Amino acid sequence: MKINGIETRTVYCKDNKLVIINQNKLPFEVEFLELEKIEEVLHAISTMQVRGAPAIGATGAFGLLIALNNIDKSNWKIELQKAYNSLLATRPTAIDLKNCMDIAMDSVKEISDYDTAMEILNLTSNHIADSSVAACRKIGMFGNYLIKDGERILTHCNAGALATVDYGTALAPIRQAFYEDKNIFVYVDETRPRLQGARLTAFELSQEGIDYNLIADNAAGYFMQKGKISMVITGADRIALNGDAANKIGTYTKAVLAKENGIPFYIAAPLTTFDLSLESGKDIPIEERDGKELIEVGNAKLTFDNAKTANPAFDVTPAQYITGYITEIGVIPSGEIVNIKKS
Ligand code: MRU
Repeated sequence: MKINGIETRTVYCKDNKLVIINQNKLPFEVEFLELEKIEEVLHAISTMQVRGAPAIGATGAFGLLIALNNIDKSNWKIELQKAYNSLLATRPTAIDLKNCMDIAMDSVKEISDYDTAMEILNLTSNHIADSSVAACRKIGMFGNYLIKDGERILTHCNAGALATVDYGTALAPIRQAFYEDKNIFVYVDETRPRLQGARLTAFELSQEGIDYNLIADNAAGYFMQKGKISMVITGADRIALNGDAANKIGTYTKAVLAKENGIPFYIAAPLTTFDLSLESGKDIPIEERDGKELIEVGNAKLTFDNAKTANPAFDVTPAQYITGYITEIGVIPSGEIVNIKKS
């Protein structure tokens, strides 16, 4: 992604250090963190310094490399498995974390020598990150065909370069359409309580020069009714076999509103976000986050300290509300995910 005109990846490994952009400081400060210990990686994922399903996936794979680099060589298999278990427990909904770490773990399954394992894990984790970027670029190309000149697109949360290793999922077709000089406009849901739309998506779009309006979470229905929104594209954290998709809390509401107003609703996601072992979205675990996220933003109190809260971080949009899935292998119409399993 471009930050102040300079192209950078948002997650990468250099000299056995995992480099991430601290998303909790954006848009006010661009801080790159260099993580050298597994504890730092665990903290980064659970406090959402790094967030977004594909970004967490790549971070998990690099996290295993960081862990392997620091552990007792004689006992490395057991220690690596412990690191895998701890990383997996950080955020339960996004399946990319498990899918990417499984690829990394599989790559060293048959290896007994520590130095060879280090070399292989280094290659594999970098390959996972590179493949994620390649998938996002293809999502951009396929999704761009759906975007007409003059399209006015609503997006929810942040499914941009920050949420991936680069380029984004929901923002990838939008970038591509913009690069092809289509006249497009983006409505950005603020995305309470963590404000990923306000802080991250608005930041990414403004860095690219793509025209947008930040809107309050509950304003989307108003703009749909007025005919101002012609398409919705969001990302996803886990997509089940029947097409139900978990994404940031509030996505379901937007999907129902879109259907009511006759507006196509697309999910953009790489294959690492699909969980074909789950028949339906009913079985997707939904992360419940600290109620403090509703009570304060930074140092600003929004209500009294001991207000009672419930804070699910995701909801599940049933497949019937989803027009199609923009993936790196093309746009899959609703109801046809089962064909990925067959191929
Ligand atoms: O809690 P977050 O910020 O990690 O949630 C992120 C989302 O819900 C994104 O829409 C999703 O991960 C897709 S990111 C390309």
